Amino acid sequence: MNPKITPATILAMKRRGEKIAALTAYDYPMAKLLDECGVPLLLVGDSLGMVVLGYPNTTLVSMAEMEHHTRAAARAKPNALLGADLPFHAYDTPDAAVSNARRLVAAGAEYVKAEGGREIRPQVRAIAAAGIPFIGHLGMLPQHILEEGGKYRIKGRDDAGHAKLLDDAAVLAEAGAFGVVLELVTPPVAQELTRSFPFATIGIGSGPDCDGQILVTPDLIGTFPWFTPKFVKPQCNAAEQIRTAIQAWRLAL
Ligand code: KIV
Repeated sequence: MNPKITPATILAMKRRGEKIAALTAYDYPMAKLLDECGVPLLLVGDSLGMVVLGYPNTTLVSMAEMEHHTRAAARAKPNALLGADLPFHAYDTPDAAVSNARRLVAAGAEYVKAEGGREIRPQVRAIAAAGIPFIGHLGMLPQHILEEGGKYRIKGRDDAGHAKLLDDAAVLAEAGAFGVVLELVTPPVAQELTRSFPFATIGIGSGPDCDGQILVTPDLIGTFPWFTPKFVKPQCNAAEQIRTAIQAWRLAL
């Protein structure tokens, strides 16, 4: 059996220049399948609000929903490092961040992730001081989609955006993040952050030069066929296979 993946394993992969594959898992079978495929980093992302629960965005996801899905994924007892998102408004203060991070850990998360940089510095420091491994999330922040006028915009294009990303990344590194998701960051800026900071960068729509890549698994396998982000090349069309299988079964009754 392979050794259990820890934050130290992820950091060692960065140092060796070994690409870190990361995917979302929201339940027992997907966590088990991805683990069997050797994916080292799993995330119970709050994207589950959109691709599992049918919400229009991630801002409606509750702590109770995150705990429920984290418990389900954790029952797979993956060798992979399994983390969970702190949902919107679950980390408005350092005390809330720590108590909600502890709830996710009690549900089976081995790290927690939250969106933002300098503005959540006290929360990240409090989570790290509580001994809970932390992954940050910079660039396009889905929990702030309403402030962005409903648009998923690329970050780091102008000087101000570039400077903000560098500052936020420095804050997260100092506060103790072992990884940072870079979502829709321009590829040159994502490469600069990857080279400049000790944490592992996990890109999504941010070019090839991050330490690792993460995707929302339903986008990759086609189980949410009604919307696929432009940067994803689906590897199969599971929705079509499901439709074909169900119709074949129904017609054979
Ligand atoms: O919620 C999520 O699934 C995420 C990943 C896309 C990084 O934050």
